[in-house]
This record gives sequence, C-alpha cells and structure tokens, in this order.
Amino acid sequence: MAGTFDNQVTLITGASSGIGRATALHFAANGAKVMVADSNVEGGEETVTAIKEAGGEASFVHVDVTQESEVEAMVARTVETYGRLDCAFNNAGIASGRGAASTSGRRLTHEFSEEDFDRIINVNLKGVWLSMKHEIPQMLEQGKGAIVNTASVAGLIGLVNASSYVASKHGVVGLTKTAALEYAQQGIRVNCVCPGYIETPMTAAGLADPVRSASMISREPMGRVGTPQEVAETVAWLSSDAASFVTGHTMVVDGGYLAQ
Ligand code: NAI
Repeated sequence: MAGTFDNQVTLITGASSGIGRATALHFAANGAKVMVADSNVEGGEETVTAIKEAGGEASFVHVDVTQESEVEAMVARTVETYGRLDCAFNNAGIASGRGAASTSGRRLTHEFSEEDFDRIINVNLKGVWLSMKHEIPQMLEQGKGAIVNTASVAGLIGLVNASSYVASKHGVVGLTKTAALEYAQQGIRVNCVCPGYIETPMTAAGLADPVRSASMISREPMGRVGTPQEVAETVAWLSSDAASFVTGHTMVVDGGYLAQ
C-alpha cells in the first residue's frame, strides 16, 4: 500500500467502530501502520482484519481511555510494535444519550446525575487529555508529530439535553488550542475535527426513529447526515504534511450545520 502516510505510524482511539474505524482503514489504505485502540475488543479485531484483508498493516491494543496506566501502555505498545508515533487521532467518545433519562424523557442540566456527568467528561475530555499527555513526549523525542482530536459541533454551540457532552466537547476544543500553542515550535501540530451528524452506531438509534431522524436531518443544510469516510478524509488531511501550517484549528465537517 503506497500513499501519503508511507512509513508512518498512526494511533487511533475509538477505532473499533464508526468514525475511528473508517479513519483507521483510510490511513492504512494510504500507507500508514495503524494501532487500533479501543475498549471494544471484538470491534477492534474486526477493524484490524478489515485492514489486513485490504493489504494494510495494523494491530489492536485494548484501552480504556479514562485510565492513565492503560493509556500509557497503549502508547508504549505502539512504539514497541512500530518504532515511532507520527499521527494520533484521539477520537474515543460516548454520547450523553446513554444512561437514564429523567422521567420527562429529557435531560436538562439540573437533571443529570453526577455519575453520568462525570462518565461523559471522563471519556470525552479526560481521555483526550490523557492520550495527548502520553503521545506528546514520543513526538517531542522525534521532533515531529500531528495530533487530531475529535470534538463536535457540540464543541462550538450549546445543545439542549446534552450539557455534559457539550461541556466535554468545548473542553476538547480548548485543550486542542492550548496544546497547539504549547508545541507549535517543536514540530507538533494539534487540531480537532467538529463533525455534525454522522451515520455511526452512536447515532443509529436516532436515525432509526423516523421523528428523531427527520429532526436531525432538518438541521443539516445538505439534507442528509455525513458518512464516517467524510470525517476520515478530513482527519487525514489535517494529519498530513499538506496541512503543515495548520495548527490549533477547529475544522467543522458538518454539511453546513454551523453556517446557519
Ligand atoms: P461509535 O460509538 O461508533 O465509536 C466510538 C468508539 O469509542 C467505540 O468503538 C467505543 O468502543 C469507543 N470507546 C468508548 N468509550 C471508550 C473508552 N472509555 N475507552 C476506549 N474506547 C472507548 O461513535 P462515533 O460516532 O464513531 O464517535 C466517534 C467520535 O466522534 C466520538 O468522540 C463522538 O463524540 C464524535 N462525534 C460523533 C458524531 C456523530 O454524529 N456520530 C458527531 C460529532 C462527534
């Protein structure tokens, strides 16, 4: 496999499913050796198999991104296996839909339990910070690296019923900008993607419900939701040398959602 990422090593969290899996396949198809990292072992192995069947190179490492020792081991395993770390896509995340809704079926800010609030912040925000914490030293040693974090349109606007998710994704945007400034002179670029509605297991229940699906699509000026591949293409560009003067950027991939 020859391409943009020949001889490069990419680590992707949340690569067992959805956006992460599509991005893993895309990097591998463009020459990268890919470390597929996720808490879902079965899905991760499926991603690795799909990459290998297409002629690419990949391995799986189990990680819970909320646990520092596991994140540290994930980065160490990547470097042990492939010798370096060129690109990292910190993408593992959960939606606020999981967990009990209030009796009204809504989850306004005052209706979140502390446990649910913490769980979402821990995966979506702390998980990104822990990943960067352990990826950056390796990239500093190499004098080069590209990190892309997954935020969301919810990192740039408020959304009713999703206060912890929105807070976590605004946090990812802030972490991204800060890390971009901190390492700008050391060869490490840090950017984030802000997808609109993308068809993945995360949105499957909503898209399967005709009322919720119509509401989601009505917010998308293109009249459709996006595909994981459309996010993967953007992550690959941000990670590539074609984006060599791009850092601290929040790139929306949202079919025009935020242009309204
Ligand atoms: P998905 O549910 O298909 O994939 C998320 C992956 O993250 C899963 O493989 C899951 O096992 C993994 N994961 C969850 N918690 C983890 C943990 N503690 N440690 C390690 N891995 C963990 O969802 P999707 O849509 O591919 O989401 C990927 C990212 O994109 C998430 O950060 C999500 O918030 C974000 N996003 C998704 C949008 C959408 O419409 N699908 C829109 C905007 C952002």
